[in-house]
Amino acid sequence: MINFCEIAQQYETPFYLYNLDKIQEKFLAYKQAFAGRKNLICFALKANSNLSVVAKIAELEGGADCVSIGEIKRAILAGIKPYRIIFSGVGKKDSEIKEALKIGILFINVESFAELKRIEAIAQEMQIEARISIRVNPNIDPKTHPYISTGLSENKFGVDIQEAKQMYLYAHKSLALKPIGVHFHIGSQLTELDPIIQSTQKIADFARSLVAIGIDLKFFDVGGGIGIRYENEKTIDLYAYAQGILSKLNGLDVTIICEPGRSIVGEAGYLVTRVLYEKRTQNKRFVIIDGAMNDLLRPSLYNAHHNIKIFHEKKQEKSLADVVGPVCESGDFLAKNAMLPPMESGDLIVFENAGAYGFSMSSNYNTRSKCAEIGIEKGEVFILRKPESFDFIVRDELEILNQRKNR
Ligand code: LLP
Repeated sequence: MINFCEIAQQYETPFYLYNLDKIQEKFLAYKQAFAGRKNLICFALKANSNLSVVAKIAELEGGADCVSIGEIKRAILAGIKPYRIIFSGVGKKDSEIKEALKIGILFINVESFAELKRIEAIAQEMQIEARISIRVNPNIDPKTHPYISTGLSENKFGVDIQEAKQMYLYAHKSLALKPIGVHFHIGSQLTELDPIIQSTQKIADFARSLVAIGIDLKFFDVGGGIGIRYENEKTIDLYAYAQGILSKLNGLDVTIICEPGRSIVGEAGYLVTRVLYEKRTQNKRFVIIDGAMNDLLRPSLYNAHHNIKIFHEKKQEKSLADVVGPVCESGDFLAKNAMLPPMESGDLIVFENAGAYGFSMSSNYNTRSKCAEIGIEKGEVFILRKPESFDFIVRDELEILNQRKNR
């Protein structure tokens, strides 16, 4: 049991708290599910890229799924081996491709023909062979929120099978490209196993057709996307997931790659906030807290639900309230219509399941500092990232302003 009240006495709210033991448990569950088959679990840094969190993954011999050179450098700093890093994303800059190739990551997931040709040109210039995988869009409905659905032909991600085939043939002939993998990712917060298995079937059939013409695929990357229970969603059983995938891969001698993000860190993270005031309008009750949409954007952006924990045994009757932050937007809410007893200034409100896409999507909107990140492991509590100071936020701008003034 985490003692939030005690931790909140040591650290100023708002802050994120990550249970590193839980992250380890969730990561190892993936390894376990695929045990007996060559596998590489590449944690999706976009979900939570705190260096200490990523270092935990490195310690467990995990890999990293990165979508920018910044994430790749974070992975390296945290101790992930280059040969366990993959680089995805629809828009990679030349400089990012160059640097990724220089670092010698496992492969680049290519998302268009134009990108394939850029990678080829850059690799030629560097006189190396670039290992690549192609992100194939299976055009299967993942049945998740439209903002986080990626595997339909109307989405910007990947290429269709026909185009992928042309790209593999092109890469196969090129001296500067080495196609070693195939990749798909149909969406995030998936609660249905079926679309993943259907996609696996489709992409595995495609992979077998490539192997048959001499394209030596070594990696089969099924993306990430397994959902967690925020409210009362059903969840996918990892064992059934792994077995379902493996059952479609006969005839392929490949290492399976998964890119889970949310399901590793989501449930292990909390946003800890304190009440500033209560406020009532004619027909609405607001609980105003010190955390806001700049700290946790998911409710404002996706109408996402995060369970609330409170810690006092007030006998007074509960009533509906919106829990809102200090940011100047009506869309700045962290919970709508929560049943809460009367709250007093200083009371703690903790948002659960905030470890994924929480801090990593936070911003400095309203010149609010990005908050601290705290870790807890084997009962020990320690800071993982200091809260940003005002000086830190304005440092670079101020330097320029002062230079301009002195001209
Ligand atoms: N691989 C690729 C290629 C991805 O695009 C993603 C997530 C993942 C792996 C990891 O997916 P996960 O296991 O975390 O579901 N900000 C949204 C989620 C965006 C997901 C983007 N891609 C949210 O807060 O719900």
